[in-house]
Amino acid sequence: MNIHVQSFQSALLRWFRNNGRKLPWRKNYDPYQVWLSEIMLQQTQMERGVVYFERWLKRFPDVVSVASATSYEILKYWEGLGYYARARNLHKAAKLMVLHYNGSIPHEYRELLNLPGIGPYTASAIASIAFNQDVVVVDANVERVFARIFDIDSPLKSRGVHEQITALARDLLPPGDARNFNQAVMELGGIVCTPKNPDCGNCPVAGQCHAYLGDFVEDRPLKKKPQKLIRIEMATALLVKNGHIFIQQRLDDDIWGGLWEFPGGRLKDGELPEEAVLREYEEETSFKVEICRKITEITHYYTKYKVILHCYLCRLPGESLLPNLQAAQKYHWVTSDHLGNYGFPAGHRKFIEYMRIVSPDLLAREC
Ligand code: ADE
Repeated sequence: MNIHVQSFQSALLRWFRNNGRKLPWRKNYDPYQVWLSEIMLQQTQMERGVVYFERWLKRFPDVVSVASATSYEILKYWEGLGYYARARNLHKAAKLMVLHYNGSIPHEYRELLNLPGIGPYTASAIASIAFNQDVVVVDANVERVFARIFDIDSPLKSRGVHEQITALARDLLPPGDARNFNQAVMELGGIVCTPKNPDCGNCPVAGQCHAYLGDFVEDRPLKKKPQKLIRIEMATALLVKNGHIFIQQRLDDDIWGGLWEFPGGRLKDGELPEEAVLREYEEETSFKVEICRKITEITHYYTKYKVILHCYLCRLPGESLLPNLQAAQKYHWVTSDHLGNYGFPAGHRKFIEYMRIVSPDLLAREC
């Protein structure tokens, strides 16, 4: 079956005009807002992305305000969205835009691609959505839509499939209307052609969809064997001394670089969590802490890992409050009401939340 290009385009575009979500950056397609939305929506659900987007925009209305902020504040406004390299790259890219483009976003795909945090997908999304240039965008939603329409019978990650879908999308792109066309396909994937329970009854292009007509929508895209999660055990402890909690800021060059944490780390083979806490505290800070008790275990999923975080309360005998930092760039002793001013990775944030809810006094009292 061949697609009838014109009727496909017009049905899809009409559907998007009438059914597209009224997202904040769709009001006037300000390039800064389009860029920000695309970065936030990578690995983040739309509803959550919109909340962060609006909060961010109030504090950082334009490129210059991002470029002139401290990395501390940038991370604070990103806290909870995860994948913090996105925030650090946004910050770096904003500085480059101020330096080379007078604080504006470059129009050209090639120029966009040279900026930190902007890969082929984001460069095409900005070029087409902000500047209406004739380039296609192919994200996971678009891949699923086209895998169903064209009955792509290999898993999406197989060699050549992304290129195949990109070529099909190019053939369907109406010149001069990439902004609407690309968003229409993404939107269709986001609200109708969903991974589970697709709403084919409300799909404007069901009549041209191989998978719908053949009644195998749920079997496309073809699945790969599920990957087994790698289990990792980690341990950490809250150290309170004189009403202050010890936190340290991670070195810039790791995945959670710039975020704050309680010392801790991964258990070695055969090591107990309590032993790991004592060892990690000593290695990272030179503090010889003592464990008071276990508080909880927190489970956190991170891409292909399942992380079990054993959480303790510990104390520091002796007088010295001066660490010898080995795995961090800075440390602070903070009161519990100031913890919220610091960005923490998800596991440690859940630990703080747990204590606030279950035993808030532990955050303030020495054990
Ligand atoms: N997901 C990422 N970018 C999007 C956009 N511009 N419209 C709909 N869904 C998206």
